[in-house]
Amino acid sequence: MLGSGDDPFGVAAAGLTWLPKEEHFGVRLDGRLVAHAGLLRLPVAVEGEETEVMGVGGVAVAPGVRGRGLARLVLAAALDHARTQGPRHALLFCRPPLVPLYRRLGWHPLDTDVLVEQPGSGVVTMPLRTMVTPLRDDARWPPGRVRLYSLPM
Ligand SMILES: CC(C)(COP(=O)(O)OP(=O)(O)OC[C@H]1O[C@@H](n2cnc3c(N)ncnc32)[C@H](O)[C@@H]1OP(=O)(O)O)[C@@H](O)C(=O)NCCC(=O)NCCS
Repeated sequence: MLGSGDDPFGVAAAGLTWLPKEEHFGVRLDGRLVAHAGLLRLPVAVEGEETEVMGVGGVAVAPGVRGRGLARLVLAAALDHARTQGPRHALLFCRPPLVPLYRRLGWHPLDTDVLVEQPGSGVVTMPLRTMVTPLRDDARWPPGRVRLYSLPM
């Protein structure tokens, strides 16, 4: 969908190992997949309090059809499903230049350290930005350090 480039998400420099997503949401145009968002449920702790989040990853729109609302559309489909799964928030990692785009879509950046697991090195601080969005009207992200008990997604 994103062509043959070896770093379609622009995150290779971070050198991270990522989890495959478990559920996939897509938009097809004339039968061709042109937009995708992946979802999976993950264990997390915020200031030691254990909970779960819906992790969002693999958000991508084919180069020829960007800027037409397809990321908004495919994320809305993924989050509609995420709302049925139980966790009170969805969480994603992105490059800093994408923070304004996700803000526009209702996501908020976290200003705390986020620890994630990595093969060989145990627990590392996520070098990308972490953003969250509520999945229920009354959900408020609590303050405190965030620890993901998995690879990032
Ligand atoms: C990031 C990406 C998914 C965006 O896809 P897209 O289809 O162009 O996004 P949309 O058209 O749905 O835009 C989403 C919203 O963000 C807004 N937006 C776009 N760029 C923006 C910016 N720089 N600042 C603020 N808002 C921005 C759009 O106006 C739109 O809001 P609106 O619907 O209210 O007008 C696409 O550029 C892509 O696939 N990039 C490569 C892969 C990648 O980096 N994925 C992200 C991994 S975290």
